[in-house]
Amino acid sequence: MKTNVAIIGGGPSGLLLSQLLHTRGIESIVLERKTKDYVLGRIRAGVLEQGMVSLMEEAGCADRLHAECFVHDGTFVAYGDEMFRIDFKEHTGTPVIVYGQTEVTRDLYEAREKADGQIEFNVEDVVIHNADSDAPYVTYTVDGQERRIDCDFVAGCDGFHGVSRKTIPADKLREYEKVYPFGWLGILSETPPINHELIYSNSERGFALASMRNENLCRYYIQCSLSDTEEDWSDEAFWEEFKKRIPADQAEKLITGPSIEKSIAPLRSFVTEPMRWGRLFLCGDAAHIVPPTGAKGLNTAASDVHYLYNGLRDYYENGSSKGIDSYSEKALARVWKAERFSWWFSSLMHRYPDQTEFDLKMQVAELEYLRSNEAAQRAMAENYVGLPY
Ligand code: FAD
Ligand code: DHB
Repeated sequence: MKTNVAIIGGGPSGLLLSQLLHTRGIESIVLERKTKDYVLGRIRAGVLEQGMVSLMEEAGCADRLHAECFVHDGTFVAYGDEMFRIDFKEHTGTPVIVYGQTEVTRDLYEAREKADGQIEFNVEDVVIHNADSDAPYVTYTVDGQERRIDCDFVAGCDGFHGVSRKTIPADKLREYEKVYPFGWLGILSETPPINHELIYSNSERGFALASMRNENLCRYYIQCSLSDTEEDWSDEAFWEEFKKRIPADQAEKLITGPSIEKSIAPLRSFVTEPMRWGRLFLCGDAAHIVPPTGAKGLNTAASDVHYLYNGLRDYYENGSSKGIDSYSEKALARVWKAERFSWWFSSLMHRYPDQTEFDLKMQVAELEYLRSNEAAQRAMAENYVGLPY
């Protein structure tokens, strides 16, 4: 087979890039290791920046999003029984959008299928060849049959555990990493939200987050030990612990119910530099990971897609390599700022095993500053709603 851009990974980055390129008549083939149902079953992000929403609009995939999303003008930060609000609208003029990653992915799959876009599921043994030449190609197997795609470019949108980053020789890239000594246990429940906006809570028992998907679907998280498994946490144990980690007046309002999904995610900060090797471009989680506090993962993947899509457009429409040549530099400049925000917010909100009394006092001082200082609130709001592309 032949195409313009071979896209490895059918998660949100790969699908969005493929659909955006399609609007400009640029062809792509998406290779996904799993089934569509598997990808749609992964419960992940819930908060979208305006930049991501604009990309969905540009891709022609935002109708259901606009009809079903929730617009949040602020968020709450709690510590102990204190709770205060950061007003995004007041400080930045921009809200955030609550619409699940599952729904984003569903809309993108639908659009790709409607346009007869080529997506191969259940692919195995993906290998990227000659990425540092003018004639890259990708081989893979489906149902035991080997296939080959010749292409102009390869987009590595295959997440943290994908093959794309590993294709780049070790002496051509540098990796930066911080692993946090805890994870997040998340549950999804068909219950109404406790509050009209999210609550991020720093409690002496550890972090908790009350999020939502719609008026009868909630997503709750608690900080947990890295050795915990889903089986260690019955629904009852989860709710009991969650209630202890949010202000008492909120705990009273909590409506519990059976979980319909439960999963544990470790927390990690990770960046690869550069995000390009020859004709291979890394995009999204394939190039960087943030801890989930602050909801930057999917949104940072979206800004990569923006830079790469515009670079490729410039190449195909104007014959200019300028955009693709500056892709890594432009994407990384924004990535590092999202890394900083996610690291800062994670450090502020979690309990660390080796935290000293001094460290705890620093958290309280920082939370007090954020509660009472307008400049601090503006800085938080600007980062939360998303820095400009
Ligand atoms: P992925 O979603 O990982 O997609 C990569 C795809 O590539 C997968 O479908 C995978 O099956 C496929 N693949 C892998 N290897 C291969 C291979 N060899 N060949 C072919 N295909 C392959 N982000 C936010 O912005 N807001 C949030 O609120 C938020 N909350 C989160 C909560 C949790 C609990 C977690 C775990 C993450 C959260 N994130 C959030 C992060 C967000 O989900 C990710 O950043 C996002 O999924 C990245 O998209 P991606 O397409 O780059 O990678
Ligand atoms: C969700 C996840 C996050 O990491 C976050 O900061 C906010 C919301 C969510 O899954 O709803």
